Amino acid sequence: MSNAQTSRISIADLAAKKAAGEKFAMLTSYEQMSAAIFDEAGIPVLLVGDSAGNNFLGFENTIPVTVDELIPMARSVVNASKNAMVIADFPFGSYESSPEAALATGVRFFKEAKVGAVKLEGGVKVVPQIKKLINAGIPVMGHIGLTPQSVHALGGFKVQGRGDDAARVIEDAKALEAAGVFAIILEAIPASLAAQITAQLSIPTIGIGAGKDCDGQVLVWTDLMGLTEKMPKLAKAYRNMRKEMLDAVAEFASDVAASRFPTKEQSFD
Ligand code: KIV
Repeated sequence: MSNAQTSRISIADLAAKKAAGEKFAMLTSYEQMSAAIFDEAGIPVLLVGDSAGNNFLGFENTIPVTVDELIPMARSVVNASKNAMVIADFPFGSYESSPEAALATGVRFFKEAKVGAVKLEGGVKVVPQIKKLINAGIPVMGHIGLTPQSVHALGGFKVQGRGDDAARVIEDAKALEAAGVFAIILEAIPASLAAQITAQLSIPTIGIGAGKDCDGQVLVWTDLMGLTEKMPKLAKAYRNMRKEMLDAVAEFASDVAASRFPTKEQSFD
């Protein structure tokens, strides 16, 4: 079975979903097991997010994550999936300095991990980077509103676009659409503002903490499964995998202590 990105969900497929009013789900994934399961479940878009920083690599936030750390994760997600579009997230420091830096990062993700698209944070100020990538044939997803790589500049993980600040978020969304992004993530903005932006853009919006009217919704997979200890308000745990895993590990340890594992079934003559 080929893992080629060309036979997968395409940016045209996502545009068609918006045109048809068909909402879609997107999930993060950082390795093979979750990628294979989400792909089998029919999730059309998998993001190898820099949220790997605080959900996989043990950092406090996304800022320390590097391209070198994300590339093997992206490669693993591509290799383990067949149908989903796999998107690599540009980590902090890998694109801000110039369009050339952004292109160099995009080329690495395309050649070394064979992803189908990339995502980067920011609005008007990253338009030159976005244009450079798109001109080179690399599809780009935007990400505006609360952009976690700017957490220190924003003064914390705060909702963006309230009151007069809405105009700035709308300007960013329009600038990204004009620059050619194929979709935009709207993070932590008022639901009414996200609805307004979604209605005004011809490309899909994908919400996280942006209300129900976006064209798609994205979640960090460890939040969805209830593995995250401190659940953010914008996420929902659909299962309590943390408890499941704690119970399973305790059961294993107690079986070992009581010589109930392994049994004959797991032993060789
Ligand atoms: O890295 C990430 O997980 C993200 C979220 C918007 C899903 O960018």
